[in-house]
Amino acid sequence: MAKAFTNLMNDRAAAEREKAGASGSPDAGGEGQIVRRMKVETRKLNFFYGPSQALFDISVQIPEKSVTALIGPSGCGKSTFLRTLNRMNDIVEGARHTGEILLEGINIDGPEIDVVALRKRVGMVFQKSTPFPKSIFENVAFGPRLTGVSDRRELEEIVSTCLKRAALWEEVKNRLTDSAMALSGGQQQRLCIARALATNPDVLLMDEPASALDPASTSRIEDLIFELKENYTIIIVTHNMQQAARVSDMTAFFYQGHLVEMGQTQQLFTKPREKHTEDYITGRFG
Ligand SMILES: Nc1ncnc2c1ncn2[C@@H]1O[C@H](COP(=O)(O)OP(=O)(O)OP(=O)(O)O)[C@@H](O)[C@H]1O
Ligand SMILES: [Mg+2]
Repeated sequence: MAKAFTNLMNDRAAAEREKAGASGSPDAGGEGQIVRRMKVETRKLNFFYGPSQALFDISVQIPEKSVTALIGPSGCGKSTFLRTLNRMNDIVEGARHTGEILLEGINIDGPEIDVVALRKRVGMVFQKSTPFPKSIFENVAFGPRLTGVSDRRELEEIVSTCLKRAALWEEVKNRLTDSAMALSGGQQQRLCIARALATNPDVLLMDEPASALDPASTSRIEDLIFELKENYTIIIVTHNMQQAARVSDMTAFFYQGHLVEMGQTQQLFTKPREKHTEDYITGRFG
């Protein structure tokens, strides 16, 4: 736990916290027991793009080492919600939010939070990920290099490990110096997953990672998500109900910026509590 704290904070704040004995830590027991098992949590999160509100009072609890699917019609706020979790919306002019976003019980908006460190721990893969116009090797080595890893052997180790985790190694191991742009769409997507893994995150945010892929590549990505959840907490946006049902443990249904319902995937798809959810999953709208 102490490591998680220091990983998120800039050095000075971490040192101060250490000196102060880190009182108030969620490790302290009692209520903390619940907080600790939750990887990501939001409390009454309201999000605004300038004058228009995109998210209303979103409170979720996402357990570690699980897959949570975010579903809902276009424009309901799925991507906005996902991007708040690693403060990607910070760069959007006029965007602001109220409420709390917690990573392992730590408020990620706190003054002591190092945003670069946060984004390393909470990695992101987009709908149509584009590799950098560099070699396959350099795409994966990019993040580690930025953080100061320069030893060739160490980089090779990271690159091969991440490519294996992303289920791409066998296809590219003999062509690591080729341009990443020469890979197929499905391979590029897996390369971008490998690139995200290379900064050693523990949460992976995926925004429709398979929507531009053919069924075979989609199936590979789904298998991969299933394997990755052993070590990572995954939050995935998908428009594909079958995919949500196949890959996720929990599903959250968003509608017009509201979280209508969140629950175990099987329950939500077979016995939704809300009529709205039922209408959506049975294809009556959206
Ligand atoms: N950068 C932005 N500036 C202003 N409004 C935005 C911005 N990005 C999104 N929005 C608005 O916020 C609302 C939620 O958008 P968001 O992209 O989160 O939806 P989504 O559920 O991901 O939709 P889709 O399924 O189409 O990707 C929409 O009304 C959208 O127009
Ligand atoms: Mg979106």
